[in-house]
Amino acid sequence: MEIITFSAIKGGVGKTTLAFNYGEWLAKNGKHVLFIDLDHQSNLTQTYNIYDNQDTVGNIFLDRGKVKIHEISAYISLIAGDMHLDDIERTIENKTNKNMFLYMWLSDNYERLNLGKFEYIILDCHPDFSTATKNAVIISNSILSPITPSEHGYNAKFNLEERINELRKEAIDYSTRKSYVTTKLFFIANMIKHNTRSSRELLKALKGDPSVLATVPEKELFNRSTLDKKSLSKMAEDHKTYIDQHEFFDSMDKTFNEISEKL
Ligand SMILES: Nc1ncnc2c1ncn2[C@@H]1O[C@H](COP(=O)(O)OP(=O)(O)OP(=O)(O)O)[C@@H](O)[C@H]1O
Ligand SMILES: [Mg+2]
Repeated sequence: MEIITFSAIKGGVGKTTLAFNYGEWLAKNGKHVLFIDLDHQSNLTQTYNIYDNQDTVGNIFLDRGKVKIHEISAYISLIAGDMHLDDIERTIENKTNKNMFLYMWLSDNYERLNLGKFEYIILDCHPDFSTATKNAVIISNSILSPITPSEHGYNAKFNLEERINELRKEAIDYSTRKSYVTTKLFFIANMIKHNTRSSRELLKALKGDPSVLATVPEKELFNRSTLDKKSLSKMAEDHKTYIDQHEFFDSMDKTFNEISEKL
């Protein structure tokens, strides 16, 4: 099982869009994917038209109640976000094991809920490094963090690196002194425009950096995918509507393939 978290300190950089489209791409390629929505804005959950706030991810952090795994399709399942997750995080703030709730839930429920059938778990986070995000980091094999061409886009990279390193020191097994944080941190340059200074500068700064897995262009179809709740993989199957976009779909197919090979 591969556990991948989409996280960034900065908002609106494409975490949810890339998590959704990458997960859908994996599913299209025959992988069983479980999405876990850790953002109380629940944008990913809403993409699947789930609006009830029952049996959500919140119960993992409350350590009580049912956690429903919504079966969206043969290959995609989802644990819905909770609109009160930020409040729930505050209620567990003083618990010593506050960063271990997801870890414990996974190991406690692995067999009962047959979680082993999922080849991928994809987590989408709120733009911060809160308790929920730390829980995701602790269970992850990889973190994918989008960076965008903007004034502070590049600095956001160091900010996240530093916070993960702090958590690496903090979240240790006290008997062995081993850290629970074993994740690798990767970046995706997102919303890259042709011929703008900020895009050129970002790409120049990232050039040759092995932690940068891919460059994703700014493309209106990503907005469409969010608005229409339709992934690029699904759009690509709809030959009539998106007749001129095949080069773009092929290039994204290649990009996702490269990402999956590098993880
Ligand atoms: N490569 C792209 N080209 C064009 N638009 C994009 C691209 N990536 C994301 N977007 C758009 O940018 C907006 C913000 O994206 P998204 O919601 O995925 O960001 P986020 O990091 O999850 O935000 P938040 O921090 O609020 O959770 C959305 O409207 C989305 O469609
Ligand atoms: Mg989001």
